[in-house]
Amino acid sequence: MKEVKIESTLFVYESIDELSKEIQSLMNDAIQAREKAYAPYSKFHVGTALLLDNGEIITGSNQENASYPSGLCAERTAIYYAGAKYPKAKVVTMAITAASQNQKTTSPIPPCGACRQAIAEYEVKQETAIEIYFMGETGRVAKSDSLANLLPFVFDKSAL
Ligand code: THU
Repeated sequence: MKEVKIESTLFVYESIDELSKEIQSLMNDAIQAREKAYAPYSKFHVGTALLLDNGEIITGSNQENASYPSGLCAERTAIYYAGAKYPKAKVVTMAITAASQNQKTTSPIPPCGACRQAIAEYEVKQETAIEIYFMGETGRVAKSDSLANLLPFVFDKSAL
């Protein structure tokens, strides 16, 4: 028996103002997408913007449904659309922001487990890391250099 330890690294910025102009602009696209969320049940609005290696920016927001499990998170809405529209493009950077109508969301909100699995599929497929920035409505912004930091022990095609 041996113990296996996996380390993950995140970088934390004090606010959006500390980000480069390019990433601020991508986060602003995510904020605009968040404002278009359809979240009448949870009142939790999430927006995502993806920068692709062909220069395109794809955005998405969470889309809820009266049959709750039929809804979809912002991250998967965006990454599946990117995959459908530009199947050959690689995702370079992902910006995510979340805001609740019930309370002020001031700490970074990471993608949920199901979204991490979906993002992992694209990172493995494209063989290059996806940079992920995530924040709440205001406050600190966290950055992961790769989805792998957010989903250790990933399940991927190598198991099939
Ligand atoms: N949600 C996202 O859009 N992304 C996440 O990573 C976490 C959760 C959405 C799903 C649902 O519409 C609402 O937030 C509350 O869970």
